[in-house]
Amino acid sequence: MRGKRILLGITGGIAAYKIAFLIRLLKKNGADVKCIMTPASTEFISPLVVSTLSNNPVGIEFWNKKDGTWNNHVEYGLWADLFIIAPLTANTLSKMVQGSCDSLLLATYLSMKTKTIVAPAMDLDMYIHPSTKRNLAQIEKDGVEIIPAEIGELASGLTGEGRMAEPETIFSAIEAIVGASNNDFLGKKVVITAGPTYEALDPVRFIGNHSSGKMGFKIAQDFLNRGAKVILVTGPTNLSLEDDNLSLIKIKSAEDMLSEVQNCWKNCDFGIFAAAVADYRPKNQAIEKIKKKTDELTIELVKNPDILNWAGSVKTENQCLVGFALETQNLLENGAKKLEAKNLNFIVMNSLKDNGAGFGVDTNKITILDNRNNLQSFELKSKEAVAKDIIDYLKTYIG
Ligand code: CTP
Repeated sequence: MRGKRILLGITGGIAAYKIAFLIRLLKKNGADVKCIMTPASTEFISPLVVSTLSNNPVGIEFWNKKDGTWNNHVEYGLWADLFIIAPLTANTLSKMVQGSCDSLLLATYLSMKTKTIVAPAMDLDMYIHPSTKRNLAQIEKDGVEIIPAEIGELASGLTGEGRMAEPETIFSAIEAIVGASNNDFLGKKVVITAGPTYEALDPVRFIGNHSSGKMGFKIAQDFLNRGAKVILVTGPTNLSLEDDNLSLIKIKSAEDMLSEVQNCWKNCDFGIFAAAVADYRPKNQAIEKIKKKTDELTIELVKNPDILNWAGSVKTENQCLVGFALETQNLLENGAKKLEAKNLNFIVMNSLKDNGAGFGVDTNKITILDNRNNLQSFELKSKEAVAKDIIDYLKTYIG
């Protein structure tokens, strides 16, 4: 964190009072912090507290009425290594979606040259409202990283999802982005599989699954932050990622994924296989659309190649291979079997029984088992922080 320039945007929610702790954490870890507040947020935390803790003047309006000077949003955008908006209210969120610019904070968001991350905070009904969900999905598409709200007591007296992530969690997310860019994987090459596979039945239908691809994409992003060259072989997802060091290969079926992995694995140092590959595919693929003629239809399936198993079978001493296991029961037992059977260096296990883990959500709760018999369990975290934990584990493992 030392010397990293963190721009902190504060909007008008009760959680703003907790931002004092975040500023303290950032400063204690050596970051330079500048803050921008919306006028509403000054009702929840005093600009004097914010400027004293950050050791910098606070920007609130476009103009400082006292001395007639201008708070230059473009300069803020150029200065920052990272823009974090916490708490993010439903109001500012909706304005970010629209590209509105009626506050210094929003003008700065539009001027940012680097990444923006946000920690939403609102009452539970607001947080689960379809428009909030839609808006969060949209800013995520625009490249904003979201630190999901947590479940707990809310200022309204209700209990539920909507409470801003704790300052420590926000700090970890910031650290994962700016603190990790230390090039500790410079010169290394990694292949990552992500997302679902689609196994075609006919030209319009397929067998697939609910994997969003988020975990694999976050792992790819963290490796890129740390200087590695990444080959990301992904099934169909809504996600995007661009980087000079990234080769993004989009496939549909398990067989396509296998052939892409076979093309590159021998030249890679690491393989992280996070894809939810369909275990079976239709034996025959109809050339024309299947018509509904009968009351019942039986589809014969055949086993797909196990890509991870193949990579394990040809792995050399110098390569490190990591697999995933999503289980509904006997997590450790099943994970240990897969670790051995597929000749992995370590396996990342998660249980569908854990709240907040698994498909489609922004968080995950993992346990890692390695082939030296070490077992480590982690807290429920954002998928971004989980990606960092996995790569940190790999770093310690390779020594
Ligand atoms: N995997 C793979 N190719 C497959 C199936 C799985 O590469 N055809 C990889 C996944 O990316 C993941 C790990 O293997 O890293 C999951 O192990 P697997 O034994 O396939 O799990 P399941 O398919 O869930 O096995 P089971 O259904 O028997 O639990």
